[in-house]
Amino acid sequence: MNSKYAPFFESFTFPSGVEVKNRIVMAPMTNFSSNPDGTVTDAEVKYYARRSGGVGMVVTACTYVTANGKGFQGEFGGDRDELIPSLQQLASGIKEQGAKAVLQIFHGGRECPPELVPNGEIVSASAVPSEGKGKTVPRELTDQEIEAIIRDFGETTRRAIEAGYDGVEIHGANGYLIQQFFSPHSNRREDRWGGSIEKRLTFPLAVVDEVKKAVAEHAKGPFIIGYRFSPEEPETPGITMADTLVLIDALAGKNLDYLHVSLQEFWSKPRRGVEDSRARIEIIQERVGDKVPIIGVGSLYTADDVLKAIHTGVPFIAMGRELIIDPDWVQKVKEGREDEIITKIDKSKQQQLVVPDPLWQAIIHSPGWFPGVE
Ligand SMILES: Cc1cc2nc3c(=O)[nH]c(=O)nc-3n(C[C@H](O)[C@H](O)[C@H](O)COP(=O)(O)O)c2cc1C
Repeated sequence: MNSKYAPFFESFTFPSGVEVKNRIVMAPMTNFSSNPDGTVTDAEVKYYARRSGGVGMVVTACTYVTANGKGFQGEFGGDRDELIPSLQQLASGIKEQGAKAVLQIFHGGRECPPELVPNGEIVSASAVPSEGKGKTVPRELTDQEIEAIIRDFGETTRRAIEAGYDGVEIHGANGYLIQQFFSPHSNRREDRWGGSIEKRLTFPLAVVDEVKKAVAEHAKGPFIIGYRFSPEEPETPGITMADTLVLIDALAGKNLDYLHVSLQEFWSKPRRGVEDSRARIEIIQERVGDKVPIIGVGSLYTADDVLKAIHTGVPFIAMGRELIIDPDWVQKVKEGREDEIITKIDKSKQQQLVVPDPLWQAIIHSPGWFPGVE
């Protein structure tokens, strides 16, 4: 190995006590390939196993905690005890290759396609659709329903523990239900769940507390709890960088194992809310300091891209598309073969890359999403 990449391969012990062997994480990526009943498919498990030999930790695709939170065709479920064997199949597929397995837990809120949820009924913090043509107006959740969804996040955490995962990642990013409660665009409530920024934090923090409670009650050993968020929204009103600093201050006080900053571009700059010309990730890392480890992500393809990112002081780097394009990325760096890393998808290599059909079709029919598909 080229010694400049040695920092990638330093082990790390999370606040909970779980140790990972290196600093590279597989980013959560939905693969649209589970069965309609919410169980995982063999193709999906093989896809994960193929990518779990090098990285320290794999965060799975998101799993819905409640039937009315299913956000994607072919998403696997975590909402019922009968799905524990399916969840376990996926955890084992990852862990057998040497990586820690972290289940991403999720509710899609107003972004769920009506055909995937019971009675086609879409729910959210308020009856405000997301921007864009043809978006469904969601029904505002009642206080009781909100309490039930919070409990569902705890129940899915218990199932993750029973299925053998090393942790869960709370999906508070990318515009889904948890973010919908924090956002002034989607949360127009005037009760205990909305109004001021502090009240908009009530739901995300209640989910964190419920997940922590489930871990305290059910985990027999150290168990990772991470939280993923998106730093800004383009809409007005919408989450600003200033709002995000309030969110991370609150999360940093929760003894979490990590915060995962969801970005398409690691080096992207703030849109509004702070007078600071640095990248969002640098501002966040400075604000958080050593209170909680950060995972950065976004369009990092080569070993030098990752090295430059890690030099910001962010302890972990997640990679998504790059690990689909080259499942041997980590091993190549480790063996001094970083020059052999592939950074564009080869459309003739679906079988060698072990990518399930629905994900492959999505990739090759979405120009501009993956390098190599114009
Ligand atoms: C196929 C695909 C599916 C994704 N699904 C999820 C998901 O389920 N949960 C999530 O938090 N992010 C999801 N993302 C976002 C990625 O985790 C990541 O933030 C993004 O792709 C940027 O990183 P990259 O440039 O390394 O791919 C997805 C991305 C891709 C490409």
